[in-house]
Amino acid sequence: MFLFKRSPGADDAAYVRQQAYDFCTQDTVATFRKDGFVRLKNCVSEKLCDDALREINRRLGSNETSVDEMKARTFPKHKAITNLFNKSAIPIVLQKMLGGKKPYRQGGGQLALRFPGDFTPNQSAKASEQVFRNTAQYWHIDGCPNDFIPGITDHYGKIHNFDCLVGVLLSDVDAPLSGELCTFPGSHHELAEYFSKGDNLERVYQFGNQALPTGKATWKIFKRKPCHCTGKKGDVFLANYLTAHFVAPNASPSIRYAVYFRVTRHGAQRVLPNGKHNPAPLLDPWVNWAEHKPRGEQEGKAKGNNGAAANYVNNSDGADVFPPPSEEELELMKLYEQLANNDHTAPPSLQKKNAKDKNGELLRKMSSGSHDLPEEKETKVAVVISMLHEMGLNDKTYDDVVKALKRNNWEENNALGSFF
Ligand SMILES: [Fe+2]
Repeated sequence: MFLFKRSPGADDAAYVRQQAYDFCTQDTVATFRKDGFVRLKNCVSEKLCDDALREINRRLGSNETSVDEMKARTFPKHKAITNLFNKSAIPIVLQKMLGGKKPYRQGGGQLALRFPGDFTPNQSAKASEQVFRNTAQYWHIDGCPNDFIPGITDHYGKIHNFDCLVGVLLSDVDAPLSGELCTFPGSHHELAEYFSKGDNLERVYQFGNQALPTGKATWKIFKRKPCHCTGKKGDVFLANYLTAHFVAPNASPSIRYAVYFRVTRHGAQRVLPNGKHNPAPLLDPWVNWAEHKPRGEQEGKAKGNNGAAANYVNNSDGADVFPPPSEEELELMKLYEQLANNDHTAPPSLQKKNAKDKNGELLRKMSSGSHDLPEEKETKVAVVISMLHEMGLNDKTYDDVVKALKRNNWEENNALGSFF
């Protein structure tokens, strides 16, 4: 008889099953419920991460996918990407937490690379506390209508919600301000409460992102500071759909590599019998999750949990035997492919495409007379003015900003900080 110790990160079904059960502790579930997100350390094996990294870096090197598209607009169906989800413990964890009789499966994953300089003033790869705070005010939840792509994202009247956002880290993200996912702990409950009042939810249907309580309202509605979801390669973050989130500026020397998946509970009621969108998941963040099931089904849940592992078959030659993605999953994935990235929910001042045009436009409006600064410095003035406006300091003039930049050796972060 041979005895061997399973190595962490092995992909075989028994190890993955045990791993999933180990993740679903009372503490983990309680943290998830309270904060709206949770980190599963070392959930995806090094091999699966490396397979995905190989495919992503191959695409980067071959130019078949543009760098910009790598930031959140690409949803490869390549197995190296989907295996991060399908062959790891994630489907079992979700089956235990979300419920449902079938294993969860993903037919594509969203690449989410963040490069040094992303969301920093003028792509400087430097970000102060104020820059971070400004970025935080531009949080979002996924799937709300907006004007980003006419004909596609302007689905006013509809919200494309799901249940769980799953982020797989493919690189170590050790320090804040490294392009990491940031979340507002407890925001899932705070947003549900907000949507329950008056016409707040109706306004989001009608006006989309613009009706979310972002900007200065952020600090009134969310009681806790944003959390930097730093971690190691192979860590997974699960976030409730309603958890407010955003991407931190990347002032680190490294590219942040991550892949995201979006999961809806099997059989979740998305449309009411009257044909209208079911608002329940926006009014109660856990309504579609296992413990919210009616009593009769709760009994089935225990069976389902035990059955989850049995349903999860991963045969030894590596061929997967998962059922194909459901119509619903395919539809949601298609929508998110079309949605492009979420960069439009970052502060306009920090969006790359705005550095010269939109910031410059604001500058021209504010600046009455001619001035003789070189273009590079004009751009810095424009970005700082834009950021000040976004943070509510509308009374600062062109001259105020030029003086602040001069005092700070033309460094945007320090100039911005001098106003607070
Ligand atoms: Fe998002």
